[in-house]
Amino acid sequence: MSTKDSVAKAVTIVDDEPLVLDMLIRAARSWEYEVETASTAEGALLSLERRSTPIVVTDLNMPGQGGVWLVRQIRRRWPLAAIIIITAGQDTDAAVECLNAGAYRYFLKPIKLDEFRHALDITLRTCQLQDEHDRYHERLERTVRRQTRKIRRTFLSGIDSLVRTVEARDHYTSGHSMRVRRYSLLLADALNLDEGLRKQLGLAAKLHDIGKVGVPDVILNKPGALTEEEFDVVKQHPVIGERILAPIIRNPNILATIRSHHERLDGRGYPDGLSADRIPLLARVLSVADCFDALTSARAYRSALAVDQSIRLLEEGAGKQFQPEFIREFLEHVLPAIRIRPDADRLSENDLAASAGNSSFVSSLSTD
Ligand SMILES: [Fe+2]
Repeated sequence: MSTKDSVAKAVTIVDDEPLVLDMLIRAARSWEYEVETASTAEGALLSLERRSTPIVVTDLNMPGQGGVWLVRQIRRRWPLAAIIIITAGQDTDAAVECLNAGAYRYFLKPIKLDEFRHALDITLRTCQLQDEHDRYHERLERTVRRQTRKIRRTFLSGIDSLVRTVEARDHYTSGHSMRVRRYSLLLADALNLDEGLRKQLGLAAKLHDIGKVGVPDVILNKPGALTEEEFDVVKQHPVIGERILAPIIRNPNILATIRSHHERLDGRGYPDGLSADRIPLLARVLSVADCFDALTSARAYRSALAVDQSIRLLEEGAGKQFQPEFIREFLEHVLPAIRIRPDADRLSENDLAASAGNSSFVSSLSTD
């Protein structure tokens, strides 16, 4: 359909004087306008309800509600309609009032038909240009939305590749980020976090260990216990992650969550030693999910713990490492929704014995 066809060449003419109305109708039809008519303002509204036209031509002085009232009604209900006022010379104040209320232009009686035709044609063209402009904007908005979705998909694919690159260096952590994301979102649901926070948490969870690209393989895959110096290097991964992502992720909440995912409630975590609610909310949520997956997954330096052992360690960490309510919600609502593989290796009795009385045990198991 061409632009011109998108706006009907149609006009509603409103006048209580039959001779004037008849003259205007005949003239408009002779110029190939489709014409709707009314002799009162109220009748005009009924006519527009039946069929709205892009142009309305109305007299000002009519029995019942006058032209000023009609202009206001049309403006409110058909905001795109162009209104032309016809008035006697003494009504210029009311005509100006109509212009202020949104009428397009006014004519003084007696009407010169060639001027009337010119006004109709100019008004119709204005309506067509406005329509063309609106359609162009709609198309533009659709294109921008489509491109934004495309860029976002590309960005997320890039992020996925980055996560896979990190996890490929250590087959023990394969799938860790996506599992942590899933557990985090389940916990977010249990805690009734709003959709905005949920989205931030999902991305932060996926990316939380990205900083491990800065940790040497020899440390990342070391089968035995880390030395203090080596552990100091591992402790840098949340900071490195924040630094890597800062140029591409503008949301400070997501960056802060990644930086703080190893902080502990008692202030003994890293990298900043934050405590209690100085730790960002989403980092406190993420740390529960991260730790649970670390406990129930095998690592280069230990076997996976069974679920009941992991639960016990999480409970022991409540109030020290983790927000107690988050542990409660995790065990009550998230755990039943998670299927841990049944053949998960159990931690050896020696490992458990070594853990007795060590308040940092959970933390040391979940440095990753
Ligand atoms: Fe980590």
